[in-house]
Amino acid sequence: MNKPEFHIFVCNSFRVSGEPQGICNKQGAADLLQYIEEELLDRDMDGMVSATGCLKVCDRGTAMVIYPQNLWYGGVTEERIDEILDALEEGGVVEDYLIS
Ligand code: FES
Repeated sequence: MNKPEFHIFVCNSFRVSGEPQGICNKQGAADLLQYIEEELLDRDMDGMVSATGCLKVCDRGTAMVIYPQNLWYGGVTEERIDEILDALEEGGVVEDYLIS
């Protein structure tokens, strides 16, 4: 198995029951998964994207984490994802959207 260079986790607010109930899901996090997937392909980036349960930073949703860089981003939108992936390609970060 080829392991990706990085893994992006997007909060989709899944609860223990499996139901997506939370701010990130209500803000359209499910659509961001497809968007990121397509961006990674377009950019030929060796990354993977997955949906997660609540990341416990709901007041900063929609939340997204990138490992192994351990970057936590909040208020994620398609426009911000473009900036975040631009920075990731260069080995950088977008400080304005970081959750610290
Ligand atoms: S619902 Fe997304 S961080 Fe809690």
